[in-house]
Amino acid sequence: MSACEYRPGLEGIPAKESGIGFVDGKQGILEYRGIRIEELAAKSSFVETTFLLIWGYLPTFEELEAFATEIQYHRRLKYRIRDMMKCFPETGHPMDALQSCAAALGLFYSRRALDDPAYIRAAVVRLLAKIPTMVAAFQMMRQGNDPIRPRDDLDYSSNFLYMLNEQIPDPLAAQIFDICLMLHAEHTINASTFSAMVTASTLTDPYAVIASAVGTLAGPLHGGANEEVLLMLKEIGSVDRVEAYVDERMQQKQKQKFMGFGHRVYKVKDPRAVVLQQLAEQLFDKFGGDEYYDIALKLEAVMADRLGGKGIYPNVDFYSGLVYRKLGIPADLFTPVFAIARVAGWLAHWKEQLNANRIFRPTQIYTGDHEITYIPLEKRTTTPEKRAVPGDYERYRSTIG
Ligand code: ACO
Repeated sequence: MSACEYRPGLEGIPAKESGIGFVDGKQGILEYRGIRIEELAAKSSFVETTFLLIWGYLPTFEELEAFATEIQYHRRLKYRIRDMMKCFPETGHPMDALQSCAAALGLFYSRRALDDPAYIRAAVVRLLAKIPTMVAAFQMMRQGNDPIRPRDDLDYSSNFLYMLNEQIPDPLAAQIFDICLMLHAEHTINASTFSAMVTASTLTDPYAVIASAVGTLAGPLHGGANEEVLLMLKEIGSVDRVEAYVDERMQQKQKQKFMGFGHRVYKVKDPRAVVLQQLAEQLFDKFGGDEYYDIALKLEAVMADRLGGKGIYPNVDFYSGLVYRKLGIPADLFTPVFAIARVAGWLAHWKEQLNANRIFRPTQIYTGDHEITYIPLEKRTTTPEKRAVPGDYERYRSTIG
């Protein structure tokens, strides 16, 4: 590859050296610090996995206790943040609310000491502790209720589910939710992590880093796909409609993607989707089935037939929504829940970036003109022959009537 070859979406271009996560897209392998995700899902907890990702090793019993206690201690939100949230429109998307709240933390904790390990640890703890409280508080407030105070006697995941419903969750539900957080905690240089790294590389504060990543995760091609999957399953409506739905959609001139399918790296079924599907089944066994699951199974089979040859299989977002739905989490909180988990990976990459920082400043291939003469306003025509993007002028005019 020549130094100047342009790769849309930076496909295949290494953006950093990292020891945090590893993905093998052909074999469907995901590791955090060298440990397979399936093993962590079976044996670890989200708080322990977060420690592993950020500090690079499995903590001792004492270290884990200390870390969990610190997070527990910092769960509450300042009343000014709660007051700010009360002014948010209840119709706003929870990801927008979360991005605003994450950024607002920078106003309250404005000291920036990126070379001080105590500052790094405090920021890590604060973000891990407060992001779930923010998500739950917005959920309560948009329904006209006061936020539920976090409970110190509950672990990380149980406490979040408690703050959402003011009900102590069933232990299996809390355990499954905790595994979901582990599965979503890290995934190398995806769009939101890259966004976090670019922001981190300017040496700004960690709250700006996380706010930037939350905004990036929100899009439907990234974390926002989990919410869209449920809308798609709803639109399909029944198992016998699946084949026709897929075929009709594939024949459309303006091709639309199938949400929850495909991945830049995985060309097989995403290993996280495999575990999430098992978790969904465990929940259905205990709490009853879900009509959408049968549609999802059929959709996976039809898609394998139609697009499997192109390496398009379910990604992490395909089954996560079904798990969250069974846990009673509203669809527009699926992506904020993803963010709660991914804060771990973002913070790990933030810390790694600080250890070997150089500001991101890629290059571009200029495709515009040179030496263009400035035309005075009164001499400009309304329909210039040459436009930077064909059709853009017409589209712009159509919006102003
Ligand atoms: N449905 C139908 N076709 C697809 C899909 C899909 N979900 N994904 C990829 N393709 C096709 C494209 O149409 C394209 O076909 P072509 O070569 O004939 O034009 C080919 O596969 C390559 O697709 P790209 O969009 O170029 O692949 P890219 O690596 O850029 O995108 C992405 C990956 C964004 C995840 C894509 O697969 C997609 O849009 N999926 C749906 C959204 C989604 O589920 N996002 C969540 C991803 S996981 C995460 O971010 C947490």
